[in-house]
Amino acid sequence: MTKIGDGDGQSTFETLNGAQLVIRSSDDPELPEAFEDGSTLRRMTWGAASAGDLDVLRDRLGDQPNYVDFGDALECRDPNGLTIRVCVTRLRDVELAVTPINQYGDMRRIDEPSPVYDRATPVGVGHTVFFVDDLEASERFYRDLLGFSVSDRYTDRAVFLRMQVRGGHHNLFLLKLPHRGAGLNHVAFTVRDIHEVIGGGLAMNRQQWSTFLGPGRHPISSAYFWYVNSPLGGAFEYYTNEDFLTEAWTPREMRHSLESFTEWAVEGGIDADTRRQKSAQT
Ligand SMILES: [Fe+2]
Repeated sequence: MTKIGDGDGQSTFETLNGAQLVIRSSDDPELPEAFEDGSTLRRMTWGAASAGDLDVLRDRLGDQPNYVDFGDALECRDPNGLTIRVCVTRLRDVELAVTPINQYGDMRRIDEPSPVYDRATPVGVGHTVFFVDDLEASERFYRDLLGFSVSDRYTDRAVFLRMQVRGGHHNLFLLKLPHRGAGLNHVAFTVRDIHEVIGGGLAMNRQQWSTFLGPGRHPISSAYFWYVNSPLGGAFEYYTNEDFLTEAWTPREMRHSLESFTEWAVEGGIDADTRRQKSAQT
C-alpha cells in the first residue's frame, strides 16, 4: 500500500483503487469502542453506490445502536459490537495490465513470460472476516439492512456474503466459533494474479511478517491465498482468482471442515531465501 498521510495521531495507507487503511493508537479516544481486547479493527467503512442508495440505508439504519447521521456518511454499531460507517463510495476503477495464464486448450499468453513480483501492490480491500457471537443477528443485519447477498454457508457456523448480487464470492465472512467471542479474523487484499500472491507473501516474510497460513487454496471460493499475522490485529491476506457470482448462483450449504476450507495450504509460509517451506521453528 502507499502511505498517503502521517500526522495528527494517524497514518493512512491506500490501495490502488483508493481503499484506505487508517492506523491509530489503540488508546486513542477518537476511536470507537473496541469489540475485542488488544489491537484490532475499530471501524469498518462500506461504500454505497450512490447518494440515493445512502438514503435507502438512512431509512433502514436509524434504529441501530449508536446511530449517527453525518450527512454524507452514516454510522452505527453492528450486532457484533463493531462500529460501521457507510458513505458514497470513493473507490476508483483501476485498469491494470494483467498477464493471462496458459491452460490446456486456452493459450492466451503468447510470446510473453508470466511475471515475477518482488512485492504485492494490492488493488483493493476485497473482504473482511469477523468472529461473531450471534451469527443469525449479524447475518440479518448485513443481509436485510445493508442489502448483502448470501453466497455460501457452513451450517450453524458461518456465512459468506457479497455486497452486490454480481460480484466476487464474498466481501464479508462471518464465523461463529464455540470458544471465540467477537473479533477480527482477517482483512483481505485483492491482488492481480497467483504470482503476486506468491511474490507478496515472500516479500512479507522477508520483512519479518510471519505467515499465519499460506500459500494455499480455498475450494469454497476457488481463491489462492496467503495470510500473514498482522500487528494491527488478526491477519492480512493476499488473494486472487476468487469465483465471480451472479443472480444465477444458488448458495451452497456445507459442513465446516478443514477440507471445505482449504484444499491445500502451506503452514508457516515459504522461506524467501531457500524457496522451501519454513520449518516449525522459524
Ligand atoms: Fe479471506
